[in-house]
Amino acid sequence: MGRAALYVCNCNGIRERQVRQAIEAGAKRPRDVFAAHDARPQCAKCVCDMRRMIQDQAEALALAAE
Ligand code: FES
Repeated sequence: MGRAALYVCNCNGIRERQVRQAIEAGAKRPRDVFAAHDARPQCAKCVCDMRRMIQDQAEALALAAE
């Protein structure tokens, strides 16, 4: 196995790819990512990971715009 990392949010079964899609669609906060998947934060363990992914994406876009 060892592919559990594909899930960013275990409570809602939101995968990394789905978080990325939500960010591409304009999610700016973990709350937006949950809303995009019709989910709610439960244990909130994934919120830091989501924030990091949003941050990484914002940096990638900023670099691309330079
Ligand atoms: S892992 Fe996302 S709310 Fe628990």
